[in-house]
Amino acid sequence: MTQTALISGGSSGIGLALSERLLERGFRLLWVSLDEDEIAHARQSLLERHPDAEIEGRAMNLADPQSVARLVQWAQGEGGLDLLVNNAGFGVYGPSVSLAVEAEQAMIDVNARALHAMTRAFLPLMEAAGGGTIINIASNSAFVPTPGLAVYAATKAFVRHYSNALSQELEQSGSPVRVMTVCPSAVSDTPFKERAAAKDVRTFSSFSATTAGEVASDILKGYDRGASEVITGAAMRRAMWLMRFSPAPLVRWLTQRETQRI
Ligand SMILES: NC(=O)c1ccc[n+]([C@@H]2O[C@H](COP(=O)([O-])OP(=O)(O)OC[C@H]3O[C@@H](n4cnc5c(N)ncnc54)[C@H](OP(=O)(O)O)[C@@H]3O)[C@@H](O)[C@H]2O)c1
Repeated sequence: MTQTALISGGSSGIGLALSERLLERGFRLLWVSLDEDEIAHARQSLLERHPDAEIEGRAMNLADPQSVARLVQWAQGEGGLDLLVNNAGFGVYGPSVSLAVEAEQAMIDVNARALHAMTRAFLPLMEAAGGGTIINIASNSAFVPTPGLAVYAATKAFVRHYSNALSQELEQSGSPVRVMTVCPSAVSDTPFKERAAAKDVRTFSSFSATTAGEVASDILKGYDRGASEVITGAAMRRAMWLMRFSPAPLVRWLTQRETQRI
């Protein structure tokens, strides 16, 4: 039977790369993103390569609390979900005091509040249907306080802590639903860094930078082996391992260096 995946932010960057791999596995895709034209364009380009693909997209702002109820209604009308990927998110680069409070609060709304609301809305529906997987996209910035991305990193720390704890709770209770957390390092080939006004920040060209395609491949490897958490990119995995044995001042210095403009 055809499996259905709802991917927030499926029409761009990591979401789009993952979408193509899921299509190759025979999934039917539901997308929610902000920009209707971008959805139409991304859908068309995938259909050119995969003429039999089933992709439907809706333009909605996940910062609007009503959007989640509308997505539930849509997905249930399509027969429910096998996979939910909470991928939509954005960053705004700069010292916190220099940023508009509204911009920071919008990051909290989309990256954290909407992800939580989507997870809470779809989890019981998946349990009632007998199973499913929820993939929540965090970031490597979830591991350390990150100057220049203070609120962004804090939203991703929320995603990581919440998703990891929820994953354990579901496992302990014998739930048929599993939650996987994904922590990508900086991705060099998505619009994220331009949208965040962070194009010239060192991390996007450093040793640990990765691509949307690599992130999508690592997500699916983790999905296939039943991982609860995936750090994407081999260089970042090595760096995170070394970080466990590194003194805090060194980690702080490296983080500050990585998040400065070149
Ligand atoms: N790129 C990186 O370096 C990096 C590193 C670690 C983690 N991540 C995380 O990975 C995820 C995907 O990022 P990406 O690099 O693929 O960036 P991207 O290409 O900018 O994709 C973000 C997607 O989220 C959607 N989105 C943003 N705000 C939304 C809203 N209010 N309502 C609905 N959809 C919204 C965007 O829709 P529109 O395109 O229609 O605006 C877009 O499709 C994000 O959660 C990001 O935080 C990225």
